[in-house]
Amino acid sequence: MSVQSSTLAPFGINPDTGFLPARDPLTRLPAHFQAWDDLGAQLPALLLASQARAAIARMPELEIERLEGEAERERALLLLSTFVSAYVWGVPKPAERIPRPLAVPLCRLAEQMGRKPIIHHAANVLNNWRRLDSARPIRLDNLALLQGFLTSSDEAWFILVTVEVEKAGASAPTELLRAQEAIERNNIAALAKSLERLTAIIGRMEAALRRMYEQCDPYIFYHRVRPFFASWNPPGVIYEGVSERPQMYAGGSAGQSALVQSLDAALSVRHESAASRPFIHEMRAYMPPAHRRFVETLERGPDLRAYVIAHETNAPQLLDRYNACIGALDQFRYLHLKIAVEYISQQAPPGAEGKGTGGTDLRAFLGAVKKETRARRLPSERTP
Ligand code: HEM
Repeated sequence: MSVQSSTLAPFGINPDTGFLPARDPLTRLPAHFQAWDDLGAQLPALLLASQARAAIARMPELEIERLEGEAERERALLLLSTFVSAYVWGVPKPAERIPRPLAVPLCRLAEQMGRKPIIHHAANVLNNWRRLDSARPIRLDNLALLQGFLTSSDEAWFILVTVEVEKAGASAPTELLRAQEAIERNNIAALAKSLERLTAIIGRMEAALRRMYEQCDPYIFYHRVRPFFASWNPPGVIYEGVSERPQMYAGGSAGQSALVQSLDAALSVRHESAASRPFIHEMRAYMPPAHRRFVETLERGPDLRAYVIAHETNAPQLLDRYNACIGALDQFRYLHLKIAVEYISQQAPPGAEGKGTGGTDLRAFLGAVKKETRARRLPSERTP
């Protein structure tokens, strides 16, 4: 089937790298922005010495108009959104006001890019890696983190494993479009093939996620990594020079990844319960607008599950392939829920159990999302 790069390009997707940028993220900005690059390099030491807030407050106010092209804007948003979360959470008493030299460029840039002025998946994962050897592939054994907070190896691993999951799913967008095209052309064999490939892709995403255990320790994650990814405390923070009204934003979460939401959209997995729908939909506002449009485009496409049901008699193999795919997504979510419980619920002091960085009651939310995935399996005597 003929899904071309030109079909994916308007959605900011590359056939080889998926939702990761087609070109490796920039490691530096032009000279005018040196103060931001320097602050980024110093940030771990400044945080350790409890000096990050003061250093950020002294930042010069630079003009984002001098940023040229998407890659420079992405690097600037990575730095500024890291600074704002470091500013708020860098000392025990969270800040309630963001100083103007950070607030103004951050809010203007985030608005220009259709994003939010807080740490988020697209900045902190999709655009936060470099290859150790540019001749070798984007793979965990060839990746380093560009910008972190305390930058422990556990923190780097947490982000880089998420990059690895995105890379494992890089061909999913192409395959999802192929599946929809196959339905539109009533090509059962092509649809069956796509479902088979998608099952393998989701399996590789699960294998990548499982690698979290290798070098990200749950205790370190909970106490030293996760705090910087938190949502603002209600009623939000004031971005000085932008508005005197507090702005409330959710913290960083891979729930903001368009990859898993695209799989749901095309595989007819719907999250419509009170426990799941609000967060899933809210997270779309944190995706790059082109990625969000991709999820919505898939959602408006043909209903794959209904097509499988309609062809149950003349093409029973489709039902098995569909169930295998849903089974793989269910397995991915089973592992993810297990990780969330081990890395958050089991690390939390009694009474504080269970909130994700995106602010959900994690067992209720992740449990519902998983249940809604499993519920899409179709009854079949031949499916175990
Ligand atoms: C230590 C590792 C991880 C932990 C503790 C964790 C925890 C959580 C929690 C608590 C949520 C609920 C939303 C919130 O309040 O933030 C969530 C959502 C989500 N996370 Fe993770 N997560 C981890 C790694 C990952 C990775 C590597 C991915 C891969 C892309 C991922 C994908 C998702 C997705 C897609 C959601 C939305 C729910 C869904 O669609 O299933 N997470 N995560």
